[in-house]
Amino acid sequence: MMFESTLVEQLRTVRRLVALTGAGVSQESGLRTFRDAQTGLWAQYKPHELASPEAFQRDPKLVWDWYAWRREAVKAVRPNPGHYALVEMEKRVPAFTLITQNVDGLHRMAGSQNLLELHGNIQRVRCADCYTFTEIWGDDSEAVPRCQVCGGLLRPDVVWFGETLPRDQLEAAVLASRACEVFFSIGTSGIVQPAASLGFAAHNRGAVVVEINAEPTPLTPKATFVMHGKSGEILPRLVKAVWG
Ligand code: APR
Repeated sequence: MMFESTLVEQLRTVRRLVALTGAGVSQESGLRTFRDAQTGLWAQYKPHELASPEAFQRDPKLVWDWYAWRREAVKAVRPNPGHYALVEMEKRVPAFTLITQNVDGLHRMAGSQNLLELHGNIQRVRCADCYTFTEIWGDDSEAVPRCQVCGGLLRPDVVWFGETLPRDQLEAAVLASRACEVFFSIGTSGIVQPAASLGFAAHNRGAVVVEINAEPTPLTPKATFVMHGKSGEILPRLVKAVWG
């Protein structure tokens, strides 16, 4: 794959770069995305029956078990070359910010430092009532484990549909997107807000938008450089083409 020389030149001199990632960047690690037809989680499960506070209210055990299943799936996989290429990019760009919608923790596992997890992290568990985080919980087959502090139900520290994003992470993501010179959108369908608006915010401030995705998204018309394919194949090659 040949990269446009203007993109390579731009990346050799860029000082402020933001990369936004979604489930597609973890697909080559063996994790299912959400909206890919047939293979996506939402093709099999109804998001509002499993990933919402109402669902947890209605049937906490069903939701707890589903996230326990996903947590095991994440434990069974490793970051792929796409994750590692972003770690390499971070080493070479003075102000690099990685914003992820993924709750799988694979960016952190790969070694990414300046990382904003907009939708939380599935490996973290906290109390639904008093917000106390815990690393130890009994896996009782009958009931959802409870908080040692207040007795409330434990839940994964992820953002469910209808819930607000962690304020500090979102504010930092908006600031970085508005101030960047280059904005990468990688492996995301670009339909879930507010993450989906970050690329447009960057574009409106004059940033060069680069899209790496298996298929077109609503951001594609705003992108200066579009590479439709697998991020685990494209990103390592791009890093090599730019920084050798
Ligand atoms: N490389 C690049 N792109 C890929 C790859 C790959 N190997 N595999 C799939 N894709 C693309 C798909 O074409 C799709 O456009 O990744 C995108 C994944 O989109 P979604 O499944 O919608 O995932 P995402 O955009 O991360 O979803 C956003 O929605 O369900 C909620 O909270 C959840 O964080 C999630 C949010």
